[in-house]
Amino acid sequence: MAWKSSPESSDEIRSAFLDYFAERSHQIVSSSSLVPIGDPTLLFVNAGMVQFKDVFLGSERRPYIRATTSQKCVRAGGKHNDLDEVGHTARHHTFFEMLGNFSFGDYFKREAIGFAWEFVTDVVNLPKESLWATIFEDDQEAHLLWQEVAGMPAERIVRLGEKDNFWAMGDTGPCGPCSEIMLDRGVNLRCDAPECGIGKCDCDRWLEIWNLVFMQYDCDKNGKLTPLPQPSIDTGMGLERVASVVQNVASNWDTDLFRPIIRTVEELSGRPYESDGRGFSHRVIADHVRASTFLIGDGVLPSNEGRGYVLRRILRRAIRLGRTIGVERPFLGEISESVIQTMGRAYPEIQQRREFILRAIEGEEDRFKGTLTHGMNELGTLIDNVRKSGGDTLMGEDAFRLHDTFGFPKELTAELVAEAGLKLDESGFAKAMERQRGIARAASKFAEAGDGASEELRSLEESSEFVGYDVDESESRIVAILADDRQVERASAGETITLVLQRTPFYAEAGGQIGDTGSVIGTRGRAEVLDTQRPIDGVIVHRARLIEGELVEGEKVIAGIDSERRQRIRRHHSATHLLHRALRELLGQHVHQAGSLVAPDRLRFDFTHAAPVQPGQIAEIETVINRQIRLDQPVRAINTTYEDAIKSGAMALFGEKYGDAVRMLEIGDFSRELCGGTHVNRTGEIGNFLIRSETAVGSGVRRIEALAGDAADLFVRDRLSLLNQLTDQLGGQPLTRLQNIQDELNDLKRELERVQREQASSWVNKLASQAKSVDGLKVVAAKVDVGSFAEIRGLGDLLRDRLGESVLILAGSVDDRPGFVGMVSPSVRLHAGRLVNNVASIAGGRGGGRPDVAQAGGGDVTKIDEALAEVPKIVEKMLEREGRR
Ligand code: SER
Repeated sequence: MAWKSSPESSDEIRSAFLDYFAERSHQIVSSSSLVPIGDPTLLFVNAGMVQFKDVFLGSERRPYIRATTSQKCVRAGGKHNDLDEVGHTARHHTFFEMLGNFSFGDYFKREAIGFAWEFVTDVVNLPKESLWATIFEDDQEAHLLWQEVAGMPAERIVRLGEKDNFWAMGDTGPCGPCSEIMLDRGVNLRCDAPECGIGKCDCDRWLEIWNLVFMQYDCDKNGKLTPLPQPSIDTGMGLERVASVVQNVASNWDTDLFRPIIRTVEELSGRPYESDGRGFSHRVIADHVRASTFLIGDGVLPSNEGRGYVLRRILRRAIRLGRTIGVERPFLGEISESVIQTMGRAYPEIQQRREFILRAIEGEEDRFKGTLTHGMNELGTLIDNVRKSGGDTLMGEDAFRLHDTFGFPKELTAELVAEAGLKLDESGFAKAMERQRGIARAASKFAEAGDGASEELRSLEESSEFVGYDVDESESRIVAILADDRQVERASAGETITLVLQRTPFYAEAGGQIGDTGSVIGTRGRAEVLDTQRPIDGVIVHRARLIEGELVEGEKVIAGIDSERRQRIRRHHSATHLLHRALRELLGQHVHQAGSLVAPDRLRFDFTHAAPVQPGQIAEIETVINRQIRLDQPVRAINTTYEDAIKSGAMALFGEKYGDAVRMLEIGDFSRELCGGTHVNRTGEIGNFLIRSETAVGSGVRRIEALAGDAADLFVRDRLSLLNQLTDQLGGQPLTRLQNIQDELNDLKRELERVQREQASSWVNKLASQAKSVDGLKVVAAKVDVGSFAEIRGLGDLLRDRLGESVLILAGSVDDRPGFVGMVSPSVRLHAGRLVNNVASIAGGRGGGRPDVAQAGGGDVTKIDEALAEVPKIVEKMLEREGRR
């Protein structure tokens, strides 16, 4: 059966794919954020299956067993990294869209192959005779199925090894053998390899379009494969690649996904695409800005580590390539606009966050300009040094330091070094880079998920029911006790344990709200709960200390939280929502939550905003929030669907993973936000709100620390009492009084300086009168009563001004040792350094310095006079020897 009408544009292909699978009972699920949530093993979401990882592993359930998505993916780091290929090939990108269908223990190989075959041949109408399949070397079943289901001739089914046909998401996690549909794009595109063919070369003739993974195992960190609870299907097809075939163009860059963006690059640079051969710069700029737009849209900001660092690198690479095609002014914002226009219909989030994305990109471009200027100066100095030392090569270490510390691109260093007629030590650079990569690799081995207890916890069959939205205390049963990360049957007084309860009012730390504390009481014992966490989905654990008696697995208990403390947490949590809303209202829609902490005694709220919040704005924010508190608005939690919540204007957090069913928290008609936390019933309970501080925490991120309820009262009371004490001490008007004290202090300082000046001048007079004439030259040798070289030199300066042409030796006791300063007028041919050394040596010291000023120290203070007495003689002798003037 031929499809009604074949899709052509990328938007049509995307919809045709989702519709095709929806019609075959697959749930259409939205793309997840590019930032993997709760998966520390992964840098970016790099495949459609990532959001379903836990479903494959069996630790998460969904209300469907078949799903289909078009997923945003980034492959720029980690196991799947295409960064170095981008621009060189027709088909690699850092950001791309993956169309996928998934079966969670439902259908397997036969249906997966059947669906894929029907879609490519009937829906997008690819010519059957140009299609090939690859399979994992010993997958006999797939070999038969391709022939049976798709009628594929055996000679077009190629067996490949683990490298090509065994797919794994990362070093750990779900994996399995796979089978790929390849398209032969025709002999015209063949490469020069003698045996150009599938699995033998990697040229543009053979296009891999769809990867069908037969998910069967979970791989642990030692490489051990454990069978999954149920064999599953994960497939992925690159939208850009299918589009290039359907639109019958030579490369992904020529599809409707990239042409508009590349056209913008052409316009801004005035250089036609492919004017530099294959259009490398245009392609990379388009790719990198596209990826950056999506990454920032998902909350990643440029920084020097982790995800932010990858973003910074690709943005800077785009700026640099811009320069090579003649764009000197900031231009990435305009390219990003073009990305938003091209892709915003399919991914409305980049439209909604447009202002934020553009600000972040333009900010980074601006910063990089600074880096370039800085690096140029530094490089100038390095080049000068090489020249001065008579060399002809800039050391690789130096070039690397420029790159590493200043972010100065190596290519630019190479260019400028060549312009200066020098060479660059490439191998030294490569060595330094390799060493750095080693360090980076070690640092990026993200912590393994979970702790020692998680194996035990994963195996628990029962999950915990959270009842703490409604009650503070509940009857329950102990499901498991862990001591030292091992499951035990009982525990007794003094032990620190982890408790899992069948039902619990304890809120586990999440969404910034810290975990509850309280107590668990059994028939023969009582434990104090110190913290509550949720290490894996569905399991709430209570970290507790057994205070008395014993607790036994399976027994009935009463679990009760510290209600006072929780009420204080509630106040701060609801206040956080008011703050989020007020910030957006007063500062603008670019404000997004970037992190938070909700505790009983304070709250901390990080948000995206470039400039400091002005004191006037702080006061306004407080006023708006306190008004909402005094209006005593009702606070309601509404269970609804993600779609409806967003439609009603609810704020969702960047990078948060939301299922379809969500809990929306509504405060009057002031704020709507998706949130699982605990809140007051009416805003009046918050009582009071005040902001303690506003600071910067990173580029474009600010932090507000604030207090609510009794914490705010306590703070105000403390401050008032401090003010009262100050008033008591200083009198009725402390500020006026302080100003007076300050003025008095300044007067006294001035008076002191005047007295010191007078004293110095009388010393100078006295010293000047002691000048002796040696050979017609004025010579002063005197002891002065000051304690540092700087002060002795100061007096020397005054004295020299008074005497004109002269020779001075002044001595004092510096840190209980003799200190001599020698000064000789420039017209006198006598070296001050040698003179002062000769004099000081009589007291057992030494020193030296310039011909006009020098100093010496050390030796015996009691010998200062003796040394000074010798000065005229020494001067005379030296004059004889060195000639007079
Ligand atoms: N996870 C597989 C891939 O990324 C199929 O979706 O290729």
